[in-house]
Amino acid sequence: MKPATFTIDGIEVKAQQGANLLWAALDNGFYIPNLCAMREAAPPFASCRLCFVEIEGRTAPITACTETVSDGMAVHLNTPKAQRLRNRAFELLLSHHHLDCRNCAKNRSCELQNIASRLGLKLKLKRLRRIPRELSIDSSHPLFTYNPNKCVLCAKCVMVCHDQGTGILDFAFRGIDTAVTTLAGAPLAEAACNSCLACVAVCPVGALVAKPSVSLEEAKAAVAHLI
Ligand code: FES
Repeated sequence: MKPATFTIDGIEVKAQQGANLLWAALDNGFYIPNLCAMREAAPPFASCRLCFVEIEGRTAPITACTETVSDGMAVHLNTPKAQRLRNRAFELLLSHHHLDCRNCAKNRSCELQNIASRLGLKLKLKRLRRIPRELSIDSSHPLFTYNPNKCVLCAKCVMVCHDQGTGILDFAFRGIDTAVTTLAGAPLAEAACNSCLACVAVCPVGALVAKPSVSLEEAKAAVAHLI
C-alpha cells in the first residue's frame, strides 16, 4: 500500500492508502466511538453505528469503520450531523441494554460507560422509552456466564467464536427480538464450546463475563491476536 496524507479535524495525518479510516484515526490519537469494530474483521460488521464522521465532498455522514483512507481526504469528527447520528445510535443501544452498572461485573470497564464519558452522554435515557429484554441468563458453563439482556449485538463474540473454529454462537430471530444464542438455544454447557473464552475477552459490555474463578487476563490471552 502507498502512503496517504489526509486531515482529521484540520490536522494532517499519515496512513496507508486504502487503510481502514477508523483504525487510522484511532492509531493517530483521534477518538471515534466504536463498539463492533475488530481489526481482523473483513468486511466490518458495522452494526453499532457509533462511528459516524463526515468527509468533505460526501453528501452524508459515513461510518468510519467501513471507509478507507485516501490521499487528500478531509475528515471531520464532530460535526452536528455526525454527532446527532451517533448520539441517536447510542440511545438506541441503551434502550435495549439492561442497565445495572452497580451490580455488573464490567462496571468501570464497560465500553458503554467509556463511550458515555468520552462523548459527555448519559447512560440513563431521557427521550427514548426503555424496551427491556427479559431473556434467561445462561450460567450453565463452568467458566463464564451469558446475560443476553446486556448484549448490544455487536457480533464480536459471534466472529471470534467462528474464528476459533467453534462457531457455536450466532444470531437468532429478527428485529427487536434479535439475540445472540447457541443453536436452538441450547445451554452453553451443552453446546460444543471449547472454553477458549474468546467471547468473554471481546465482549465490550457485561453480557459475557468470566466466573470469579477465571481471570479476564486468561480470557484476553486467549485472543490477544484478535483485539
Ligand atoms: S464501529 Fe463502525 S458501525 Fe460499529
